[in-house]
Amino acid sequence: MSLDIANITKNFGGMRVLDGVSLSVPTGSLFGLIGPNGAGKSTLFAAISGFQKQETGEVRLDGTRIDALTPHARARAGLVRTFQVPREFGHLTVRENLCAAAPNQTGESLLGLFFRPARVAREEAEIAAEAEEIMQRLRLTQVADQPARLLSGGQKKLLELGRALMLKPRFILLDEPFAGVNPVLIAEIAERIRDLNATGIGFLIIEHDLEALTRLTPYIAVLDRGRIIAEGAPDAVLADVQVREAYLGGAV
Ligand SMILES: Nc1ncnc2c1ncn2[C@@H]1O[C@H](COP(=O)(O)OP(=O)(O)OP(=O)(O)O)[C@@H](O)[C@H]1O
Ligand SMILES: [Mg+2]
Repeated sequence: MSLDIANITKNFGGMRVLDGVSLSVPTGSLFGLIGPNGAGKSTLFAAISGFQKQETGEVRLDGTRIDALTPHARARAGLVRTFQVPREFGHLTVRENLCAAAPNQTGESLLGLFFRPARVAREEAEIAAEAEEIMQRLRLTQVADQPARLLSGGQKKLLELGRALMLKPRFILLDEPFAGVNPVLIAEIAERIRDLNATGIGFLIIEHDLEALTRLTPYIAVLDRGRIIAEGAPDAVLADVQVREAYLGGAV
């Protein structure tokens, strides 16, 4: 069971941003993706999740090709991403943000509202219950009624994770869950990710905070100028000469 990325290339204008990226991530795992600014990490997430069309390459989730699907269809297949800059609705409360992230509500179509009011009500109750459960899991219940714009950076990251969970994914692509988050909340977010992983959800996590990341992920890969240059256990990868030169400028 794995997320398999094969030979992904992506150009922006004349620039090759992803240059034949292949990676195999076990679907139950905690897997880190590191690399310098501009290496192409977020672009790789966009290609895997369907938000950007790649030039070449294939994406398989547990053996099934998903690279021709829309982002919605990939989410239905179990693969969901979060964004580097959280995309919550600032004027909506935490609870409302979670409910708004639920997929394909019958009530969204006018016909659905007219002809299936009971079903719409049932769906809305299910969505509300799901949101409550996710707030409990992420310890967001005490801010349920706060407008999202009033949340701290870390709480916004948790809400972003919660919005992904509303899609009931098997696998989540997390783009910089610790960026702009204070150390106490970083540890808490890491704990929540660990809890979710224990329930069977896999994670591929982009992160610049290497200490926090490598405490969480027993396996990491390094992307540099659109290519995977190393992967393995964090200690071995961070000791790799090519990685130190490319990513760390020899500073670590
Ligand atoms: N929509 C876009 N249009 C044009 N160029 C883009 C677009 N998105 C990203 N790029 C360029 O592609 C390259 C890779 O960007 P990307 O955001 O994937 O890097 P990253 O590894 O996520 O960096 P960071 O660690 O800073 O988030 C950069 O040179 C960036 O300027
Ligand atoms: Mg990025």
